[in-house]
Amino acid sequence: MNTQSTPSRVLVTGATSGLGRGVAILLARRGWRVAVTGRRRDALEETARQARAAGGEPLLLPGSVADMDEVRGHYALIKAAWGGLDWAVLNAGVSESMHSKDFSAELVRWTFDVNVLGVCRWIEVVLPDMLAQGSGVIAGISSLAAFRGLPRSGPYSASKAALNTLLESVRVDLRGTGVEIVTVCPGFVRSEMTDRNEPGSMPFLMETAAGAAAIVAGIDARRRVVHFPWPLSYPMKYLAPAVPDFLYDLAASRLAHMRRKKPGRMAPGAGKC
Ligand SMILES: NC(=O)c1ccc[n+]([C@@H]2O[C@H](COP(=O)([O-])OP(=O)(O)OC[C@H]3O[C@@H](n4cnc5c(N)ncnc54)[C@H](OP(=O)(O)O)[C@@H]3O)[C@@H](O)[C@H]2O)c1
Repeated sequence: MNTQSTPSRVLVTGATSGLGRGVAILLARRGWRVAVTGRRRDALEETARQARAAGGEPLLLPGSVADMDEVRGHYALIKAAWGGLDWAVLNAGVSESMHSKDFSAELVRWTFDVNVLGVCRWIEVVLPDMLAQGSGVIAGISSLAAFRGLPRSGPYSASKAALNTLLESVRVDLRGTGVEIVTVCPGFVRSEMTDRNEPGSMPFLMETAAGAAAIVAGIDARRRVVHFPWPLSYPMKYLAPAVPDFLYDLAASRLAHMRRKKPGRMAPGAGKC
């Protein structure tokens, strides 16, 4: 049976690529039981293959965090297999560029449905058992983009800001229950998401494995808010919010000329969101 000192049953949502896959492989290497979700079945199989090669026992849960029935079904499978979870790494996320001249409420809705409600659905499902067992960690993967409204990133920045605030409230509410909340705010990490950004527009870009390692180290340490890499995260978390709005507008509009995003992958599963 699992105890708090030997957490070994982990869920990673959005593990078909990037940071989610990196975290799943890293924890599989520890010999932990890792359940992985994502919509692309082939990519999920590839994550499972790598997790097995790393020595883990992956549980494959193909599907979307935007579908409550699927989320309930996935957790029922986890419960049947392992009895519950020790960590839930709620990583699934989408990012689509939007210039506000082309404002799309639908794009905002879709982004929130995955980045915010996708986390909420999983919290609702895993929390009762974690509270009953008196232990567990829920880590939500947010972003440094949460700390100010980045240009051409309204839906994404707003979704991550909402996620940060939500997780903060949950963390305070759950104080003393044994269930811990970790908010993770990465900077730029190489992934399918950032592959669409213009090269050279991502200061302090980290490799995927390094980003995944930083996430796991932060969760291991039970830091309330994990942010990295420090040369970008300290200014974004502590300085940027204090910058006067007129100065921020000047700096951010300059940044907008550097950052251009190619169209992304709304298509696979976007209809399901
Ligand atoms: N890379 C960065 O620089 C960076 C920086 C800050 C924060 N983040 C955050 O880190 C997380 C991972 O992003 P990444 O950079 O690793 O990008 P990525 O390679 O594009 O990975 C995104 C993952 O989310 C999954 N996903 C998307 N929509 C989903 C849905 N409806 N249901 C289930 N899974 C879904 C994708 O799987 P399917 O498409 O197969 O469903 C994929 O596995 C995101 O929350 C992102 O916002 C990334």
